[in-house]
Amino acid sequence: MMNGLRFTKVLLLVGSVLGSVTHAAGFQGSVLDEAGEPIVGAMVTARFSTPFQERTVFTNDQGGFELTGLPESTDHLIRVRRIGWHDVRSGGHMTAADELTPLDFTMVRHTDPALVAAQLPANHWYELLLNKLESEHDREQFVRQCTFCHQQGNPATRLQRDPEEWSKILALMARMGAGLDEDLRERVPELFNTAYDPATAVPALTEGWQDPDFAPPPSENVRQAVVDEFQLGGRSSMQHDMIVHPSGDIYSVDMTTDTLFRLDPGVPGGSREWFSIPREDVPLGGVMGLAALPSNSEMHVGPHSLQADSKGAIWITLATGNRLAKFDPSDDSFTIEPLPGGIYPHTLRIDDRDRVWYTIAGSNHVGMYDPDSGQHETIRVPARSFGEAVMLRMIPAFIWLSQYIDLSGALGAGGGEGVGPVPYGIDIAPNGDIWFSQLNAHRIGRIDPETFEVAMIDTPFTAPRRMRFDSKGNLWIPGFSSNLISKFNPETLEFQSYTMPTEPLGTETPYSLNVDRRTDTVWICGTNSDTLISFDTASEVFTIYPLPTQVTYTRDIDFDSEGRVWTSNSNVPAWQIETGIPRVLRLSPRGTPTSEVSGGQ
Ligand code: HEC
Repeated sequence: MMNGLRFTKVLLLVGSVLGSVTHAAGFQGSVLDEAGEPIVGAMVTARFSTPFQERTVFTNDQGGFELTGLPESTDHLIRVRRIGWHDVRSGGHMTAADELTPLDFTMVRHTDPALVAAQLPANHWYELLLNKLESEHDREQFVRQCTFCHQQGNPATRLQRDPEEWSKILALMARMGAGLDEDLRERVPELFNTAYDPATAVPALTEGWQDPDFAPPPSENVRQAVVDEFQLGGRSSMQHDMIVHPSGDIYSVDMTTDTLFRLDPGVPGGSREWFSIPREDVPLGGVMGLAALPSNSEMHVGPHSLQADSKGAIWITLATGNRLAKFDPSDDSFTIEPLPGGIYPHTLRIDDRDRVWYTIAGSNHVGMYDPDSGQHETIRVPARSFGEAVMLRMIPAFIWLSQYIDLSGALGAGGGEGVGPVPYGIDIAPNGDIWFSQLNAHRIGRIDPETFEVAMIDTPFTAPRRMRFDSKGNLWIPGFSSNLISKFNPETLEFQSYTMPTEPLGTETPYSLNVDRRTDTVWICGTNSDTLISFDTASEVFTIYPLPTQVTYTRDIDFDSEGRVWTSNSNVPAWQIETGIPRVLRLSPRGTPTSEVSGGQ
């Protein structure tokens, strides 16, 4: 039953209308080196408005670029970036109505290889660490447990530290859910300190950096793309999932501040509103308690995943509040639905009868709620062993106990994702079947939508995370710790896997994917490499799109009506992100967006 409470919205409208956007307002120019030669594939970024929007384009074979569709008569901060050269930053550039203002840049080559190494995405550094992990078991465990909140190898994580500092950091990570074997945990300080020693790391990472084929520019096709980033939230935010609503608005949940954001990208700079999700009586930390909280978090209910139903209402899992929230955009009100069982409602999907299906990560269930009838189901899914089944049933007692005893690592606290089988991704097949993954058990399962019977299938790869169906009924699954995506055919039960193309090979952590069902193109989060990656299912070709902001950690993908790709930068902590500010992003693969967005598929 709905508890029927209505809450007044907390609304703040920011981002005034900056005048009409004419397609022609913008900048046009070239990026050359000191000898006057073109720099191909440089990223030219214009920042404008408060909170900011940033638009990035790539230079062509002649070093030329056009930054169009910008608001007129507005001051822009420009950044030009290409690995091997110093960033150019230049402020005070005004746009004028109906013209492209000329703007040329000269880039200066780096002379210090340490600065070149610092420009490389985290996964290049991370490879140095992976190379030190000899056993496949250690490697897999490390990837699965240490890369699900933030990148490894980013500037904050690749510092040298003394053993005391390491033991504090590892204790904090364990409390948040990063459970490593005792043996591996003991070796981590030495592994990090040797892998990331600048004396060896910098030469290894920058070998041959003066050669033209070091960090080659993206292909001509990729260079057509335009990337827009919209600031959302602040340094203590965690922008978890986002969706493109049928209205064309973008909604995003901020887990650590219990906020729902709405962004209208049709307004220059983007207009933003934010709504505080009712916390009711849930204490700080929610069901996970205080121990599992990152510092400066204000998480009570922990909104995690969201989807719109057929009437446009938005359903949200409140992971640490153990509730569902429903947000009605017609009057901006919330309704809260308490859940009858389970711990840590995680990812949700809505079936064609508007029933809400969601994984329950902490207690190994899948939930179903039918708002029409008020029916709740809490479906227990199989554990890996009898012992684990007993342990899972005792979790409520553990949580109670953890107020008094440090049970670091005993529970999958941080994100409910540490230990335990962890039901994770979920999607609804074209025939109505419910499929979900069990991240740590390396399995997927099918639930009969009428009888709720469950059948499990082992995946031939590790850590199946957030998965989606294509239009033909194939299930696409990212292997988070196995550097691949896999196509599963529910009829033949066959898997076909494709290794991620990210260089250096073996360093990607694909967190999530989504399928644009209009073209059956799979889009994958290049979570550890600051990229979005497409996979054309007909030609089986991957295309890698580099993203402009260092430490762009992505967890979810959605599409608008023009086939543009939306995601959010969700690295936690947010302050590890370059500039410290999280964003939602739009990748327009075929150039500057001209029309307003409307809803996705
Ligand atoms: C549940 C989320 C989560 C997981 C999983 C996680 N981390 Fe972190 N990590 C954080 C947060 C949050 C911070 C910032 C901590 C702070 O200063 O409050 C952080 C910071 C760090 C830092 C930088 C510390 C500093 O002083 O800036 C290192 C190094 C690090 N983590 C390593 C690891 C390792 C190694 C693992 C795997 C054992 C891991 N992390 C797993 C959330 C996580």
